[in-house]
Amino acid sequence: MSNKNSEKPEIVSSFREFFGNNIALAPVDVWSKSRKVMQPYFTNKQRYKIITQLINQYVDDLEKHVDGPQVNLAESLRSLFFSIITKSFPFRYLATLIQDDKNQGRDDLAFSNALVTIAAGDDTTSATTVFFLLTMAMFPEIQDKLYEEIYDLCGDDREPEISDIQKLPYLDQVLKEIQRRFTTLPIIFRKITEDAKINDVIYPAGTALLLSLANVHLDPALYPNPYQFNPDNFSPENVANRPKGSFVPFSAGPRNCIGMQIALVVMKQFIVSSLRSFSFHTTLKMEDIDLKIGFVSHNKSGCPVSLRKRKKNRLL
Ligand code: HEM
Repeated sequence: MSNKNSEKPEIVSSFREFFGNNIALAPVDVWSKSRKVMQPYFTNKQRYKIITQLINQYVDDLEKHVDGPQVNLAESLRSLFFSIITKSFPFRYLATLIQDDKNQGRDDLAFSNALVTIAAGDDTTSATTVFFLLTMAMFPEIQDKLYEEIYDLCGDDREPEISDIQKLPYLDQVLKEIQRRFTTLPIIFRKITEDAKINDVIYPAGTALLLSLANVHLDPALYPNPYQFNPDNFSPENVANRPKGSFVPFSAGPRNCIGMQIALVVMKQFIVSSLRSFSFHTTLKMEDIDLKIGFVSHNKSGCPVSLRKRKKNRLL
């Protein structure tokens, strides 16, 4: 997707009136300036310390549920990811920089961009993590395999570091399969700015497109048995056999998710920290998952799980 395919259709203009001309809604000329200014803040690894602190506090607090009844973690996870985004982002810096941009120097643009970063960041990551925990609880053998991978890398005796979480291929496979099976942002909007031929149909410039990322992920031509949860869909061989663009949870091209790297680090760090300490269980079955679809997909019944302590220690 090139810049010419990055335009948003008129349908989003009512949202602009309400939320401001922020990076997610703005027309391409305003968007490209915000994107340039904001991009460096979305690759900064300095915030990793605060991210791990907040996650470790949350995971320590989960101890109180060990061997207890099923508990719904959806709301507390949302609060955790909200704290992570709000406490780890240098919003004041962001505001200053955007105001300094002489072309678009407006307080309300800075505010709107800060707001959309929070809005786009906490709900997406927490909803994905809910699906992750629930699915692991439903597939204990996959959860155990993942635990073994994490244990082999870090053991009991040291905290995982950012370099560790990038060395977990099975975690990568399982998380991708979660993002495929439950596409967090199922639909995105675009406007065609030049006549375009898609699947033998010519769409004139100006056409508004409603693109279903979920449909790509549930296409049986790309993923056999698409409703079945199967991390092997992301084995290196299976990935190599699929065309580019068949996995797009963060969209693709220049107007893809600016928070992708941060989202992956935060979600993986949470998964590694929580699975090292506990095993998760649930009475829910895959067929009980009922999606509430808005901008972001949620499971209607949240995240009902029970926890047991992991007791593995190689030295014993
Ligand atoms: C699992 C987590 C996430 C998913 C699945 C996700 C998905 C997406 C998708 C599909 C888009 C494209 C939307 C469109 O074209 O209309 C997008 C854009 C965006 N995302 Fe994310 N996102 C996630 C996490 C985050 C995080 C953590 C942040 C911020 C810290 C963030 C900030 C944004 C912003 C600001 C945009 C607009 C980018 C632009 O238009 O240039 N996202 N996201």
